[in-house]
Amino acid sequence: MPDFAELHFNGEVYKLPVVEGTENEKALDISKLRGQSGLITIDPGFKNTGSTTSSITFLDGEKGILRYRGYPIEQLAEESSFMEVAYLIIYGELPNSEQLNKWKVDITYHTLIHEDFKVLLEGFPSNAHPMGVLSSLVTSLTAFYPESLDPVRSADEVYMNIIRLVAKLPTIAAWAYKNEIGQPLMYPKNDLDYCGNFLKMMFGTPAEEFQPDPVVIKALNKLLILHADHEQNCSTSTVRVVGSSHASLYASVSAGINALWGPLHGGANQAVIEMLEAIKADGGDADKYLAKAKDKDDPFRLMGFGHRVYKNFDPRARIIKKAADDVLNKLGVNDPVLEIAKKLEEAALSDPYFVERKLYPNVDFYSGIIYRALGIPTNMFTVMFAMGRLPGWIAQWKEMRENGEPIGRPRQVYTGENERDYVAIEKR
Ligand code: ACO
Repeated sequence: MPDFAELHFNGEVYKLPVVEGTENEKALDISKLRGQSGLITIDPGFKNTGSTTSSITFLDGEKGILRYRGYPIEQLAEESSFMEVAYLIIYGELPNSEQLNKWKVDITYHTLIHEDFKVLLEGFPSNAHPMGVLSSLVTSLTAFYPESLDPVRSADEVYMNIIRLVAKLPTIAAWAYKNEIGQPLMYPKNDLDYCGNFLKMMFGTPAEEFQPDPVVIKALNKLLILHADHEQNCSTSTVRVVGSSHASLYASVSAGINALWGPLHGGANQAVIEMLEAIKADGGDADKYLAKAKDKDDPFRLMGFGHRVYKNFDPRARIIKKAADDVLNKLGVNDPVLEIAKKLEEAALSDPYFVERKLYPNVDFYSGIIYRALGIPTNMFTVMFAMGRLPGWIAQWKEMRENGEPIGRPRQVYTGENERDYVAIEKR
């Protein structure tokens, strides 16, 4: 295979080096092209642009493959725990028992958040969306840990920033919810594991002892693992770009939370349930909504369908669909929207519009149904996604900084007015 491609333009030939990944993915390196030819490349939405090389997650959208650090998502979801996967993603290798124990103990030790967070929370109206609260409070960590702002940090300092963020995010998330529903804030309980502790802070009250159900803990672990990283998606790219200006880990992750919030990205899990509820309220006619999704004059899209990179199936959606059945059965929950979702999926998968465009259910299509069965309120679904994605954001931020990547700053092709003279308002 040649190690460069030739670009012929305006009588000149430019050689573009080929970059090859460990799974034989090939890319053309255009970083010197402008200097040589004056040309830039344009690719709105970065649909065919690699922004970096990365050794964290491998994804083959055509074959439906997803691996964290080489380990297939199916194995990790079945056999591992979220804490172990978080360590794997951030540090590159599975931990031994000593490393895992230290990781868990360190995280458990830092689950408390400063009491002044209560004052910040009180400032939010009770109907504030918890994603907005989450991103604000994650940014606020910079105020409580100002040393995190220093771009030149030792490995130990970076470790502490990571530990604090992983430890405190569930506390912040649960407090955002408690504040919304007007219940007393629950403190972390350090004899519980990561997921059990979160559930206790969400659903426990001072009036009633709450014991998280092991079925719920297991399901939550699986969901968080499935969301833990997804290479250069919208929120992760945001984290890397923000971090590339040497903004702190907390500020960068807060930006990622905001990017995740949108309904075309992580916000789709909330949008899916709202869509399924609307279809149910409208008589459950899946075909009517498929027709709306296909109508280019109708802004309606089938939420939870389609993906930028999966053009065959989303391996996470397969696992989640099966898990939804299992969890609902085990918990004895009968959710009528699950049937609507299955009908909609079946109809879409045999419809030429969806088949031709390779539109399949994505991770968000069934995850909301599980979250609902676990008792998580709809507006907290994307918060759950953020908790799951946190290790990925951290690992990508860390990799970008350790590789000394340059500041993220794309170019553009300007299409506005040419130079013109200013005319004072009274003369216009
Ligand atoms: N319903 C109906 N039509 C769709 C859908 C959908 N959900 N998704 C894509 N299409 C159509 C588009 O209209 C377009 O049709 P055209 O070729 O006739 O113009 C074609 O399929 C390609 O779609 P694009 O929007 O160009 O694909 P893109 O890669 O830019 O977008 C995205 C991917 C944003 C996920 C899109 O499929 C979508 O909006 N899906 C619904 C929202 C969703 O579920 N988001 C979660 C994604 S997973 C995640 O981020 C965690």
